[in-house]
Amino acid sequence: MKTIDVCLSPELMHLYDVRARTVVVADVLRATSCMVTAFAHGVQSITPYSDLKECEATRSKGYITSGERDGQKVDGFDKGNSPFEYMGSDIRGKKIAFTTTNGTEAIHKAKGAKKLVVGSFLNLSSVAKDLSSGENSVLIVCAGWKGRVSLEDMLFAGALVEKLKNDFELDCDAPLAAQHLYNLARPDMLAFLGDSAHVKRLARLNIHKDIAFCLKEDQYPVVPCLVNGVLVA
Ligand code: MLT
Repeated sequence: MKTIDVCLSPELMHLYDVRARTVVVADVLRATSCMVTAFAHGVQSITPYSDLKECEATRSKGYITSGERDGQKVDGFDKGNSPFEYMGSDIRGKKIAFTTTNGTEAIHKAKGAKKLVVGSFLNLSSVAKDLSSGENSVLIVCAGWKGRVSLEDMLFAGALVEKLKNDFELDCDAPLAAQHLYNLARPDMLAFLGDSAHVKRLARLNIHKDIAFCLKEDQYPVVPCLVNGVLVA
C-alpha cells in the first residue's frame, strides 16, 4: 500500500528519501496559496527562486517579479505575497519569478522528488485526487517559518491525510498528529489559529483578509506541478 508522511520543517528533509515519492509543498500563509490562486487566474508558469537578486534579474526577460521577505513585499518587485494580487487579468499568460521567505525555499529543498506539486487549502481536494490516482507514496513538506514548525501548514497536512486515509498507510506519528489537529481545528480554523505565530506576525503587519481567504477549502481546481524547475498547471 502507498504510504503518506509529513515533514514538519524543511530542515528535516534529510530524514526522507523523496526520489520515489510525490512531494506536496505547503506554505498556506501564503506562498503556495498565492501560487494556486495565480494558476487559477491563468498565469503561464511560476519559477521559484531562493535568491532575491536572481529573481529580480528575470524582469529583463519579461517575467513578473514577486518578492516577499518577513511577510512584506520586497522593494522594487512587481508584486508581493497576497493572493489578492494574483486575481487580475494582468497575470494571464505571463511568467512569474517568485521568491518568498520559506515557501520557495521549501520547493528548492524538495527538488529531488519524483514529482513535486504545490498544495494549499484552496486546492485541497484537487491535490488529494491527484495523489490518490497516482502510484507514488507521498510526503507533505510543511514550509514552516525559518526552520520552525507552523501550525497552519500542519493543519493543511492533516486535512490532506484525512482525505487520503483510506488510500494510504501512515508512515509515522507526524501524519497522525496533523490529522488529529486538523479534526480539532476544523469547526473554526481561523479561531484555532488565533494564537499561532504567523497569524500574529501577519496581523502585526495589518494583514487580515489574506488569512481568512487562505483557509478556504476548494476554491480552485488546479494542481501546480514542478517540471524542470518551473511550476506549471
Ligand atoms: C513565506 O514564504 O515565508 C510566506 O509565504 C510568508 C508570507 O506570509 O508572506
